[in-house]
Amino acid sequence: MSSATLIQPLHTLPILDLDHPGAHDQEYRKRREIITNAALEFHAQQSLSLPLVEYTTEEHKVWQHVYKKLKHLHDKHASSLYNQGRTLLNLPQNHIPQLAHLSEQLQQLSNFHLEPIHGLVDARIFLSKLANNTMLCTQYIRHPSKPEFTPEPDIIHEVLGHVPLFTNPQLNKISQLIGKAAISATKSQLLSLTRLYWYTIEYGLIKEHNQIKALGAGLLGGIHDLQNAFSGHAIHKPFNMQEIINTDFNYSFEQPHFFVIPSLDNLQTETEQLIKSF
Ligand SMILES: [Fe+2]
Repeated sequence: MSSATLIQPLHTLPILDLDHPGAHDQEYRKRREIITNAALEFHAQQSLSLPLVEYTTEEHKVWQHVYKKLKHLHDKHASSLYNQGRTLLNLPQNHIPQLAHLSEQLQQLSNFHLEPIHGLVDARIFLSKLANNTMLCTQYIRHPSKPEFTPEPDIIHEVLGHVPLFTNPQLNKISQLIGKAAISATKSQLLSLTRLYWYTIEYGLIKEHNQIKALGAGLLGGIHDLQNAFSGHAIHKPFNMQEIINTDFNYSFEQPHFFVIPSLDNLQTETEQLIKSF
């Protein structure tokens, strides 16, 4: 599937819902439009160079605020493979890094690539990209009035949540398995793959030395999400593929429950078995 084919259905999806914290801020909306147009252009032109964003001082301040708070939470709750990845990449604390630079680093470390996207997209489009070791990443940043929680992906979610995990070859292999299966999956199989992705790569917990740690990017890139997962109020369930593929989720609200993955080996085997059963 070419990039041009990929981008076609995306125009129909809403960019900002009315309950988004920046929905009524005209300046913010204009700013997002500039950044998202560059992503659309990248795909339309089938460009090889990722767009560079000149972030404003205010945007860098949002990054600094979230980075500082997350760092403290990561020290307590992040899985060791996340911490290893963040150390390898040496992510900056004081400024928002460029996707182009991170993509180059990942290419060297684990043959993984990043491409820009303008927002949430159709599940098949998003997952299929993973088949080619590529992740579609937003480049705009959340509204400054609500830095602790975002109802959609933004550059903080992508970089502080996902990017360090892409240094891990086994997690990339699992993402790739899901991505390859998504290309030809039926509607109900695609729903199963989307839920598996959600409850593992986005919001999974993992057991490490008898402790429960955060694995998913939604947790590692979100102050509120990470606090919620370890607050004692959220439910931690043992990993169960049948339950996962039958459990719906809502990306815009606080997650009420999480599944604890016993190990990456276990997640890979379970993923392979699910796909074989299609
Ligand atoms: Fe994500």
